Amino acid sequence: MARWTGTALLCVTLLQGLRMTTTLPNGAPLSACEDMMPQHTGVTPQPGPAPYTIQVSNSSYETGVPVTVRILGPVYRGLLLKAVAPGSTSALGSWQDPPENTKFLQCSGNLQGAITHANTNLKNNETVYVWIPPSSKSSIQFMATVAELRQLYWLNVKSEMLTGEKAAFSNSNDALSE
Ligand SMILES: *[C@@H]1O[C@H](CO)[C@@H](O)[C@H](O)[C@H]1NC(C)=O
Ligand SMILES: *[C@@H]1O[C@H](CO)[C@@H](O)[C@H](O)[C@H]1NC(C)=O
Repeated sequence: MARWTGTALLCVTLLQGLRMTTTLPNGAPLSACEDMMPQHTGVTPQPGPAPYTIQVSNSSYETGVPVTVRILGPVYRGLLLKAVAPGSTSALGSWQDPPENTKFLQCSGNLQGAITHANTNLKNNETVYVWIPPSSKSSIQFMATVAELRQLYWLNVKSEMLTGEKAAFSNSNDALSE
């Protein structure tokens, strides 16, 4: 009897889970920064693997030392780019002056927490984004939504993981506290 109730409960929970995930793409009231969904009414993301990759200058980072990021693949028009810890949606670090045709997007309370397109002019693999790492030392990866055209975009384009290194200038402090 108790087991039967448990199974029924599990089914209800699974169904609710399913309903939540299927309605999210149709405009859950989350900011673009959190869910990385473009505000393209009636357009859904491409399902397959993206033709884009994120190229990063370094496999590790130091606090305050710039890391450069490029989007490789077909020329693109739309972009949302941020750094996150694995499994999180909060933007980490901040971005330097955005390249031409792009601008800052406020993210996780940081005015320079993400980069997005400023217009639909073409961007290509020579468009360089410069990220300034935060003081945390956690592993991060870059995450992007890339739109080749308004009706053609991919979510969840991810870079390799970057590990956080101790900044050289904080070594003496660390030594003192250890
Ligand atoms: C990037 O990597 C090079 C060597 O691979 C290293 O000398 C440099 O300090 C790194 N830069 C950052 C920002 O971590
Ligand atoms: C950048 O794009 C050009 C033009 O499409 C291409 O020839 C070149 O191989 C690309 N570079 C990289 C690193 O993908």
